[in-house]
Amino acid sequence: MMLREQKKEKLEASLLADDDGGIGNSRNRGGITVALLSYCFLALFVSLTCVGLILRGNSSFLAVSFENSKPEFGNSGVVESDKAVVAADDGRCSEIGVSVLEKGGHAVDAAVATAVCLGVVNPMASGIGGGGFMVVHSSSGPGALAFDMRETAPLAASQDMYEADGQSKYDGPLSMGVPGELAGLHEAWLKYGRLPWKSLFEPAIKLAKEGFVVAPYLGKSIASNAGLILSDPGLQQVYAPAGKLLKAGDICYNVKLGLSLEAVAEQGPVAFYNGTVGEMLVNDVQKAGGILTMEDLRNYRVNVTDAVAVNTMGYTILGMPPPSSGTVGMSLVLNILNSYGSSEAAKGSLGLHRMIEALKFMFALRMNLGDPDFVNISKTISEMLSPEFAKGIRERIFDNTTFPPEYYMHRWSQLRDHGTSHFCVVDADRNAVSMTTTVNYPFGGGVLSPSTGIVLNNEMGDFSIPTEVVPDKLPPAPTNFIKPNKRPLSSMNPIVVLKDNQLAGVIGGSGGMNIIPAVLQVFINHFILGMQPLEAVQSPRVYHKLIPNIVLYENWTIIDGEHIELSEEKRHFLAERGHQLKAQSGGAICQLIVQTFQRPINSGRKLGKISNNGVLGMLTAVSDPRKDGRPAAI
Ligand SMILES: *[C@@H]1O[C@H](CO)[C@@H](O)[C@H](O)[C@H]1NC(C)=O
Ligand SMILES: *[C@@H]1O[C@H](CO)[C@@H](O)[C@H](O)[C@H]1NC(C)=O
Ligand SMILES: *[C@@H]1O[C@H](CO)[C@@H](O)[C@H](O)[C@H]1NC(C)=O
Ligand SMILES: *[C@@H]1O[C@H](CO)[C@@H](O)[C@H](O)[C@H]1NC(C)=O
Ligand SMILES: *[C@@H]1O[C@H](CO)[C@@H](O)[C@H](O)[C@H]1NC(C)=O
Repeated sequence: MMLREQKKEKLEASLLADDDGGIGNSRNRGGITVALLSYCFLALFVSLTCVGLILRGNSSFLAVSFENSKPEFGNSGVVESDKAVVAADDGRCSEIGVSVLEKGGHAVDAAVATAVCLGVVNPMASGIGGGGFMVVHSSSGPGALAFDMRETAPLAASQDMYEADGQSKYDGPLSMGVPGELAGLHEAWLKYGRLPWKSLFEPAIKLAKEGFVVAPYLGKSIASNAGLILSDPGLQQVYAPAGKLLKAGDICYNVKLGLSLEAVAEQGPVAFYNGTVGEMLVNDVQKAGGILTMEDLRNYRVNVTDAVAVNTMGYTILGMPPPSSGTVGMSLVLNILNSYGSSEAAKGSLGLHRMIEALKFMFALRMNLGDPDFVNISKTISEMLSPEFAKGIRERIFDNTTFPPEYYMHRWSQLRDHGTSHFCVVDADRNAVSMTTTVNYPFGGGVLSPSTGIVLNNEMGDFSIPTEVVPDKLPPAPTNFIKPNKRPLSSMNPIVVLKDNQLAGVIGGSGGMNIIPAVLQVFINHFILGMQPLEAVQSPRVYHKLIPNIVLYENWTIIDGEHIELSEEKRHFLAERGHQLKAQSGGAICQLIVQTFQRPINSGRKLGKISNNGVLGMLTAVSDPRKDGRPAAI
């Protein structure tokens, strides 16, 4: 891996993401849940609020049945095309993206239209009140650009702002970071876009103003966050009109959001960052008790840098620098596996054991990361990207056993985040976009600005704070403490994969702390183990959080009725090595696009030669069947 070594200091890594993402709907408030639970028992349930939190935190809603889902959702999780494809976690947004590509749009044009659509129909996961990361690989260039549109801490924020009320870091208007999504989409469009900005917003405006069908996944999310929605006038007005919660199949209107999008479509992002939409938003946030100001919005800057480039296992992976911990984290794990010196190393149950062990080291190390504009993390970044460092760690991994958490050099409490949406785009010229976007927890901070229809993110929850009581009992990570303008650590991991300088794939996922393990497993399944794209995504996954020292394996019936369960053989193999195992009904949601050529990848012939002749490969796009999205193609 060669991250453009000379520019290391310029990298910013954000390694932290959320848990529970697979389900993405359960509003488990991170590390404080355990503390809250104990408090609840001690308080003998005198507090209704507290009981509400318990209910929100569990996952019993998984039992909901989706027999009545509309045929437009789910199934056909895979499409093929030799022209262009989009894989989002909602079929309507994939189609909107493809309609842009049909008009000759660049992959970035399609990404703008898809992202804005997702914010309307998947409001629990992303939107213009949130932020994200985008990696763009241009077919003409060797590298890729990384657009960091992550939220920043407001100017009035401080390290101790949640001392009196720890929950306000996750709930309500104080949990909001300065939104970056619109600024980031616009910046990428300025560089690559071919179609008029305004035209990219039209489909989403129509959905917001004229209404859209609530997909099963959104319906489930509304149901599992009922208390949250009913206690916020803004959310209630849109998702429980007249006090009745919307269900799958109902029509949802967010006319105010449609009007906000219209203003941004007409005037550009200035309407949001220095105009009427921003003024209305700030007014709503301040009325609700938040600290966001117009100055915060005017100050927001997207950070555009070269993508991190990692060469490992025969591929080049292009991804985000910190404050994302995704790509440097993935790099460490892949370099560890690569250091065994054989592609067989990642195979079968033993490969799974090795990956789990590598993940545990990775999670421990990534907590030394933060926003590189504020903390000097260059040593951690270069270690996590270094093949030699990975080799040293591999020597501490044993094929016959696992170890307690302290063995993995952990120092700081883990970041455990939530929510999120990922999509991939490849256009007719083989430009590629990998974008992960989020409002953090489901429905962000649980506040919708009534005058703009915008759901406020709760990205401040991804910072570490000195006073937080966490289940792992470790001290909070100082590199991730709050400062005005600083970006919190993230686990998001949008990547583009090259083979011999040729586009081979686009991958990413949603699901917080589960993102890195999930993207790794999809990558390994397809590119190393040779699984077909759909199988690579659908195959049962394992997760680990370091603390508790438990391998979480998938065992659940997903939204289309398919049962996903890690094989008995693998469970047995892991148990024999001392892993404690626990079934989990959820995990991350991954989207994948791969480009294949008539000649199979391992036929010995260099793909680069084919590309030099201008031959384009076949594109296969997969939306994770764990959610009810669908990919689309020209
Ligand atoms: C963008 O990131 C680079 C590298 O970390 C940093 O030097 C620069 O100050 C950042 N710019 C902004 C606007 O954050
Ligand atoms: C914001 O808009 C005002 C005019 O309304 C303009 O004077 C100012 O320069 C703008 N600020 C920024 C940062 O764009
Ligand atoms: C950051 O830390 C490294 C050592 O870890 C040091 O070599 C480098 O000079 C530091 N950079 C800055 C800007 O302080
Ligand atoms: C694992 O193997 C190593 C040698 O490779 C040995 O020293 C150690 O005792 C073994 N551990 C277990 C738990 O069998
Ligand atoms: C998987 O879940 C089913 C219930 O859906 C249960 O009957 C079964 O025992 C579970 N298996 C494992 C290995 O957890």
